Amino acid sequence: MSAHEVVELAPGAFHLPGYLSPAEQRRVAAMVRALAAGAAGFYRPQVRGGGFMHCDMLCLGRHWNARTYTYEWQRSDHDGRPAPPLPPELARPAVSAAAAVGLSLVPDICLVNRYGPDGRMGLHQDKDEDPSTLDAGVPVVSLSLGDTGGFLLGGLRRRDATTAIALRSGDAFVMGGPSRLRYHGVARVLPGSGPAAVGLSGRVSLTFRQYALEGHAT
Ligand code: SIN
Ligand code: MN
Repeated sequence: MSAHEVVELAPGAFHLPGYLSPAEQRRVAAMVRALAAGAAGFYRPQVRGGGFMHCDMLCLGRHWNARTYTYEWQRSDHDGRPAPPLPPELARPAVSAAAAVGLSLVPDICLVNRYGPDGRMGLHQDKDEDPSTLDAGVPVVSLSLGDTGGFLLGGLRRRDATTAIALRSGDAFVMGGPSRLRYHGVARVLPGSGPAAVGLSGRVSLTFRQYALEGHAT
C-alpha cells in the first residue's frame, strides 16, 4: 500500500496531493530545464484551425502533432527535429504513482506542458494513443510542478459536468481504467503560487502515456 494520500474522484481517477517530495520536485524540474535547453525544447503548438495553444509543449518519446492529433517521431508541425527520448529516471515517479493506485503504466511518451500566467487548456480527451491502451484503460499520469493549476475533470461526454481540482506543485493525477477517456482541461493558472525552490516559472505539467500494449502497434 502507498503511504501517500490518495483521493479517488471517480473509479479510475485519482488525485495524489504532494506525491513528489520537495527534493523530487527539484530533481524533476532540473531535468525539465535541461531538456528545455536541448536542441528540441519547448515550442508553442499551432492547432489545425491556425490558432495557437495556450501553453508551450515539449514532447518526449514521441511527438504529438497538434495539427493532425497523431503521434510521430519527428516534430513535423514545428521544426522537423526528432522527439528526444523519454529518460527512464524522469518517468519513474509516474510509474510508481500508477502502481500506488493499483494500475500499471509502462510510459514511452511524456508531453511536458508549460503554462504562463494566462495559460490554459480546453476540455479534451487523451485519445490519440493506440486503441490497445485506450481499451485496456492504461492510465495517463500527470505530475505538476510550479504554480497551481485549476484542473477540470469531466465525464465521458463533453457536456458532462466538471469538477475543479487545484493541482499544486508535487501533485500527481492518474486517469485510467473507466476514467481513461474522461474529458479534462486546465481552466487557469494561479501566478506566483508555486514554490520558488522548484526553479520553474509558471506551471509545468508532465503527462506520461503508454502508446500501445506490448505486441500492438509500434
Ligand atoms: C493535458 O491534459 O494534457 C494537461 C493536463 C495538465 O496540464 O495538468
Ligand atoms: Mn490531456
